[in-house]
Amino acid sequence: MRKDADSGLIKEFLKEIPIFKSLSDRHLSRLSEDFIVCRINKGETIFHQSDDSTDLYIILDGAVRASLVNEDGEKLVLAAFNKGDFFGEMSLLDGKPRSATMTATEYATLGVLRRDTFLNAAKNDPAIAIDLLSALVQRMRMADGMIESLAFLDVSQRVIKILMQIARTEGIKDKDGFFRIKRLTHKELAARTGASREAVSKAMKVLSFRDGVKEEGDCFLVSPRAEELL
Ligand code: CMP
Repeated sequence: MRKDADSGLIKEFLKEIPIFKSLSDRHLSRLSEDFIVCRINKGETIFHQSDDSTDLYIILDGAVRASLVNEDGEKLVLAAFNKGDFFGEMSLLDGKPRSATMTATEYATLGVLRRDTFLNAAKNDPAIAIDLLSALVQRMRMADGMIESLAFLDVSQRVIKILMQIARTEGIKDKDGFFRIKRLTHKELAARTGASREAVSKAMKVLSFRDGVKEEGDCFLVSPRAEELL
């Protein structure tokens, strides 16, 4: 992990981030000076679940993900974050250990802010706290969606739901209406659906048989009628 200071870059960036949108220019300048920039290689862990750190992170570039790993090394991906997103707000707010492990899924540049600095800024400018609450509620709604999927959907439905989500955000539509997305390994799909790799392999066969998804080279083709399989 490499660290250096770059408050000009941070200030420009913070202006675009919803939780800092209410800050005055003067407060924004002061806060930007307290950020440290660090660069993380793809695959590197930023912190582990249960670590005692309490800093807040903003993604200036790249992508990271939050996951839980059990004693057998099985992984559940809780959320993926991209440029402009923040993470680490849970330990920042309650001072307790990290709830999840954060890993860079691409080379990432992060802005890091200390807990006491954030809390002071929020005391001076309570609008930051309100904006953070709104972002937290949005995350809670997504977590409810994940609990709902784990409780009520079978593995093939969970897999097609994830593939449809990716297709909506990153898919390229072909002439037959199928969405072309980057192929994911069955291990990766298992981590994103809370299922075993074996269960995902079976689910992919079912989905392929039911024309929900086709595997083609390094791509998946997701059917425009995939929703009917839910
Ligand atoms: P923190 O607990 O400080 O460190 C791990 C981070 O992962 C956490 O803050 C959140 O930023 C993020 N995180 C944990 N659980 C979820 C979730 N269910 N949805 C989205 N983000 C989460």
